[in-house]
Amino acid sequence: MDLITIDTWADAQPHDYRPDLESGNVLFFPATPFSLPEATKELLRSLDFSGTAVHKNIAYRPASDRITGVDAGAEEQLRAVFKDYSRNVVRFAADLLPDYAKKWKLDYASFRPLEEQGRDLPTNKRNDLMHTDAFPSRPVHGNLILRIFTNIHPTKSRVWVTSDPFTKVAERYAKDAGLDDLAAEAASTMGRLRGQTVHAMSGLGLPIADRSAYDRFMLRFHEYLKRNEEYQRDWASYRFEFPPGSTWLVFTDVVPHSVHSGQHALEQTIIVARDSMADPEKAPVSILQRLCGKPLLGQAAW
Ligand code: SIN
Ligand code: FE
Repeated sequence: MDLITIDTWADAQPHDYRPDLESGNVLFFPATPFSLPEATKELLRSLDFSGTAVHKNIAYRPASDRITGVDAGAEEQLRAVFKDYSRNVVRFAADLLPDYAKKWKLDYASFRPLEEQGRDLPTNKRNDLMHTDAFPSRPVHGNLILRIFTNIHPTKSRVWVTSDPFTKVAERYAKDAGLDDLAAEAASTMGRLRGQTVHAMSGLGLPIADRSAYDRFMLRFHEYLKRNEEYQRDWASYRFEFPPGSTWLVFTDVVPHSVHSGQHALEQTIIVARDSMADPEKAPVSILQRLCGKPLLGQAAW
């Protein structure tokens, strides 16, 4: 797995970066490649997260222009700041990855204000343990999780450790994590009936997560990897220091990752359609379906 450094992409010839990302590499920009005013960074760094109503991070939903994790008094100003950040980072990403941009869906943007080193969190929430991402509340139905991070700390790097891409980890551990049982259950008459019922209820607007078997497996795998001492201890790992001002893009469901130190990161998540990939066979769902020989997606495309 490589860090692909892009120094001056604005001057570069157009290049299709999809295969680089899909194979489990990180695209790295030493300087922030979109407009991010100093005043925005200063404002975010100055927010007080030490109070009793502790917000662990700020989340912004571009589709509905909603923000959570902030005090009511600061809401309006921060919503405007996030709207601007999200718009700029997405415009940059669309220029960089036009073939994804045609079909992608914007997910949350977030600000991570806390020092990552030494955070006291339950195992499943610890991001210093190597894992692939899956969102409990936002199933992706076989599409991919692209995340764009920017380190806005004035002096400190954000330190990540990653490991070999999903295909290798899944070959070794997916069955151990229960892939075959989950696939068989989903393909059974009861399983399909349950999937259809949940899909219909969610279609009616009921607040129920319409998860495919793939989504359920990925949630399980996230936790399985964090709890697997052998994997955490023995697998090849690659350490990266992302300096202040740098930006990096990565499929966090393809690349197992962990964050070890660093503070003040901005992040935008985008869900990339599997059929916009340069090679859809590299999608985690395709890899898992090959491994278990069963379909893992129901009828919902998104
Ligand atoms: C994550 O594990 O997805 C978070 C990484 C980070 O905050 O740098
Ligand atoms: Fe993660």
